[in-house]
Amino acid sequence: MCGIVGFIGNNKKDAKDVVLSGLKKLEYRGYDSAGISLFDQRFETFKIYKDFGRVQKIVDLTQKVDPSSIGIGHTRWATHGKVTKDNAHPHYSESKRFIIVHNGVIENYEELKSQYLKNSNFYSETDTEVIAQLIETFSKSFNVETAILTTLKLLEGSYALLVIDTSDPETIYAAKNKSPLVLGKSKDGVTIASDLMALVGYANEYFALVDHSFVVAKAKNIKSYNLLHEPLQMNYLKINQDEVSAELGTYQHYMLKEIYEQPSVIRRIVSKYVFDDLPKIDKQIINQMKQSDRIYILAAGTSMHAGYVGKRMVEEITNMPVEVHIASEFAYHMPVLTRNPYFILITQSGETADLRACLLKVKKLNHPVLTITNVKTSTLAREADHYLELFAGPEIAVASTKAYIAQIAVLYVLANSLTDAPYDVKYELEKVAKSIESFLDHQNLANIAHDLFLKRNCFYIGRDIDYYTALEASLKLKEISYIQTEGFAAGELKHGTIALIENNTPVIAIISNKTIAKNTRSNLKEVLARGAQTLIISLEKTSQPNDDIILKDCHELLAPMVTVVPTQLLSYYAALERGLDIDKPRNLAKSVTVE
Ligand code: M6R
Repeated sequence: MCGIVGFIGNNKKDAKDVVLSGLKKLEYRGYDSAGISLFDQRFETFKIYKDFGRVQKIVDLTQKVDPSSIGIGHTRWATHGKVTKDNAHPHYSESKRFIIVHNGVIENYEELKSQYLKNSNFYSETDTEVIAQLIETFSKSFNVETAILTTLKLLEGSYALLVIDTSDPETIYAAKNKSPLVLGKSKDGVTIASDLMALVGYANEYFALVDHSFVVAKAKNIKSYNLLHEPLQMNYLKINQDEVSAELGTYQHYMLKEIYEQPSVIRRIVSKYVFDDLPKIDKQIINQMKQSDRIYILAAGTSMHAGYVGKRMVEEITNMPVEVHIASEFAYHMPVLTRNPYFILITQSGETADLRACLLKVKKLNHPVLTITNVKTSTLAREADHYLELFAGPEIAVASTKAYIAQIAVLYVLANSLTDAPYDVKYELEKVAKSIESFLDHQNLANIAHDLFLKRNCFYIGRDIDYYTALEASLKLKEISYIQTEGFAAGELKHGTIALIENNTPVIAIISNKTIAKNTRSNLKEVLARGAQTLIISLEKTSQPNDDIILKDCHELLAPMVTVVPTQLLSYYAALERGLDIDKPRNLAKSVTVE
């Protein structure tokens, strides 16, 4: 969701190359417009090149532009104002003295507009432009740093900002609250971006800006301040290029590549968390969890579905009660908590704004928080008491696949670390990896998808743990194929939704649990009787000869890791069949950094 990249250097590197290659690396976050501002040395002025559409458009637009030592760029995911060239970033202030790119949402922009900017003329409908206009207004009375600080103090909401004062082509100003921003440096200059990935190749070390902070960056001189203009410490860390970069290789799409990586992700997790055949998690985490009287799992989207599976595993393995909550609901309507709650935030990106809102509230109450994330350098990893890394490698496709598998695997290790009688985690997870591998080696789902998904809607059904897979399968299908899909508890369908079943409506059933397999099969009969076109995904132990997809057995608590894989591929092929942009589905972002 919105990407920012800025570069200021010593003339050895062209800012255009750094910024545009950074923006390309951030494309996976999801966006609808792009733009860049560069210094034109011949005319001694900054120019803006922007439009709706892909970064490639800006690459083409700027092909003949002379090299520049400074530039800022942006990919926009529309929040305020339509997807148009005027609303794309960068934005000017009224006199064009200041140029700005912004990620986040300024909640009080309308109040600020009517209080301070009644007489200003605006070029766009965005909340961002208000920031540029405020800086310009205050610059009439103060120096630039004070004008920016005065503006920042008025802003309510989230922002990662880069600002250029066109009368000073040697400085980039940066500021952050809630939305992520990292600054990297090398001998060639300073790169500032919303994601470490954009720094790869251009910086050797980086530091993450903290909330309510402000940076003044020159090619060889970087200063960081709080909003009182007091200097802040900058704690630089080394960039591990292997951990943050990701190449597509021979795959047509990242989603397909990431689906195929799942067995190796599981094995990596075992190598990181299992020693001498026993699950090993930081003792402090285990002690805090054991002292708590209830675990609260908070997450969004796919990560929340992993949370449901986690609840099921922790309750069955340890008998500890677990609640799962939608982050965006919990943040503003906290249920009555038990006396000693323990919080687990599950998040692939570690940047989800809804979860950050929860974290801030829970920390205010002094409760312990663990973040389970794929990005150990993320905000939610940094700000929780502890974090557990997913080790899934960068996940680029917007549709989460390998991170989901990794979340369940890590939750399984965690649940087993809480008990004196753990399962053989290494053996059970290896069985899962083998089952997925053997399915992927022989899968031939493209034809099934062709037949099934020319329809306008679809249902996934399952009971117990399979219900969670139905939810995840349905989210995956709708987000990349745009087919209206619902995931249902199989027994619940007959209480209303069965009214939607008509001739050839696809109903896909997941059957991994022996005890309730017959109940799901009866529910299938009910929809078959109404004309549904059914597809059955089962394990060997729950299968019947005519089932469509039969997967190798694994432990029943881990079945969601196996049964979800054919559903991921069905979604992939459905989107492929429809000729859609699989890795960057419309309207979606990889890191959802606004609430
Ligand atoms: O980075 P997070 O795991 O916190 O993201 C949560 C959701 O936005 C994410 O899972 C979303 O639902 C995915 N696009 C699903 O594929």
